[in-house]
Amino acid sequence: MTSDSLSAKSAPSTSIGKSSVNDLHPEIDLERVPRHVAIIMDGNGRWAVSRGLERNAGHREGIESVREIIRACRDYGVECLTLYAFSIENWNRPKGEVSELMRLLEEYLETELAEVMEHRAQVRSIGRLDRLPPSTRRAVERTVEKTADNDGMKLVFALSYGGRAEIVDAARRLARDAELGKIDAEGLDEKGFASYLYASDIPDPDLLIRTGAEQRISNFLLWQIAYAELHMSQRMWPEFRRGEFEAAVLDYQRRERRFGLTSEQVSSDSAHSSSVNESDS
Ligand code: FPP
Repeated sequence: MTSDSLSAKSAPSTSIGKSSVNDLHPEIDLERVPRHVAIIMDGNGRWAVSRGLERNAGHREGIESVREIIRACRDYGVECLTLYAFSIENWNRPKGEVSELMRLLEEYLETELAEVMEHRAQVRSIGRLDRLPPSTRRAVERTVEKTADNDGMKLVFALSYGGRAEIVDAARRLARDAELGKIDAEGLDEKGFASYLYASDIPDPDLLIRTGAEQRISNFLLWQIAYAELHMSQRMWPEFRRGEFEAAVLDYQRRERRFGLTSEQVSSDSAHSSSVNESDS
């Protein structure tokens, strides 16, 4: 875990959704960009309060970061971006804050659809969507349906999401299938269990970023981050922009991912390609 490097070049996109190859950071190895980046977007409230604003102003500014980071991921060829937009614990926040977050999400999905379609992004969601207000749920489902056939970057919104809840939901579905004789519980392995998770077709995150100067996982993708590299940023989410994302990727590229192997094994090509298997420790 490291703090941000301010040496990364911050190259703002010149026009909405557009960027040229010149915008790319020269030190980022495009062959080793994380395939799946997951982000815990924390610090909206503190960002706002420290400026004498109400907390919701932080969420509104946080949407600008969402836009910029999605574009940066697309520019660098990240295949999947998962954003922790609303946790299952967030339902306990003040009513006004919850309803503003839902309203912002609906507004965001509506205003971004054109750009999402232009770039062929596929929007997905994970979490207990049945708890969302009907209009928010409909907005999410509509966007997911409209973008289902897109073959670009996968953009996953974790909504009403909890990592433990996801594992419980998987266990429930699995128990039902076992009862119906569809699976043999005795023969179940990690791959079999993972197939019951919310978005089982998506590879595990390679890089998990958390903003907001905190060092915790907060019930996010508990199963999937087993081998993710962690980047904890001192920035509050509304301040986390393209330059900070590039710093996170550079940090990731300095790591040696060993998946339980020795450094020597990883250096040899054959070991490198063997990736994670169930006997890893
Ligand atoms: C945490 O900040 C952030 C959230 C509760 C959710 C993130 C939401 C957004 C970026 C806006 C809406 C998102 C989309 C995708 C439209 P916090 O309030 O916990 O910050 P704090 O720790 O400083 O209080």
